[in-house]
Amino acid sequence: MGQSEGKLSGKVAIVTGAAQGMGAAIASRLAQEGAKVIVSDINGEKAKQVAEKINAAHHTALAIKMDVTQEHEIAEMVQETLERYGTISILVNNAGILYSTRVDDVTKAEWDAVLDVNLNGTFLCSKAVLGIMKENKFGRIINMSSSAGRSVSTLGGIHYTTAKAGVLGFTRALAKEVAPFGITVNAVCPGLINTEMARLSCSPERLSAYEASFPIPRLGTPEEVARLVLFLATDATYITGASIDINGGDLMM
Ligand SMILES: NC(=O)c1ccc[n+]([C@@H]2O[C@H](COP(=O)([O-])OP(=O)(O)OC[C@H]3O[C@@H](n4cnc5c(N)ncnc54)[C@H](O)[C@@H]3O)[C@@H](O)[C@H]2O)c1
Repeated sequence: MGQSEGKLSGKVAIVTGAAQGMGAAIASRLAQEGAKVIVSDINGEKAKQVAEKINAAHHTALAIKMDVTQEHEIAEMVQETLERYGTISILVNNAGILYSTRVDDVTKAEWDAVLDVNLNGTFLCSKAVLGIMKENKFGRIINMSSSAGRSVSTLGGIHYTTAKAGVLGFTRALAKEVAPFGITVNAVCPGLINTEMARLSCSPERLSAYEASFPIPRLGTPEEVARLVLFLATDATYITGASIDINGGDLMM
């Protein structure tokens, strides 16, 4: 699809943690729909590769190396986005880290790191784009939570569950505050998705056992999550403050 024909033509999207996994799939999907996409990640080299792939497919992307825990790096990314593309319409807070450590062994440093990336990063990036979205009277903020946030994490430790539950509270509170400005804020809650995060946190045997136990007996794909994010960024005009499950029926609430 050419840039002028898509549902997101004229829109500019920032996707954090977009160098691989779900973030990369989301960046590609939004670009295919005509958005100009900032592929941002702490891993600048891999982000560049994702952006190059998008541009090679005749869509538009720019890689920006950025750590979501560093307010000044976020501010620089916002500045660079505005200079390059003129506006910001969509923010996907996707960057995340997971440790499986059990509570007795979780250090304060590890607790802080997990909360910093998964929860505080979501707050900092959202805050950084709200001004421009309010000015535009339009914005779509999509936060990556997890089944962990709705229940208890399968693979992650107590800090991961806490952070992802925090993302859901943040989503609701922000949605209420910014709805009058034409900004929607929603959370996506994936179950087990076939990415490096899942593969590195679990043996292949355990992953196979998990997938066999799901009503839809397989892992989800990054592209399936990307399609849900696209929906929230486009047609979901009357949905805000929602937490949307995508988990093959693993968790039904
Ligand atoms: N894979 C799953 O089963 C699953 C399930 C539910 C939720 N999630 C969540 O979905 C999101 C994407 O997960 P994924 O499976 O694609 O993970 P992934 O590990 O494959 O990718 C995460 C990306 O985030 C980047 N990142 C990490 N720390 C960062 C920081 N401080 N600043 C900027 N970027 C940073 C990494 O470099 C990486 O590119 C995460 O928030 C994760 O917690 C994953």
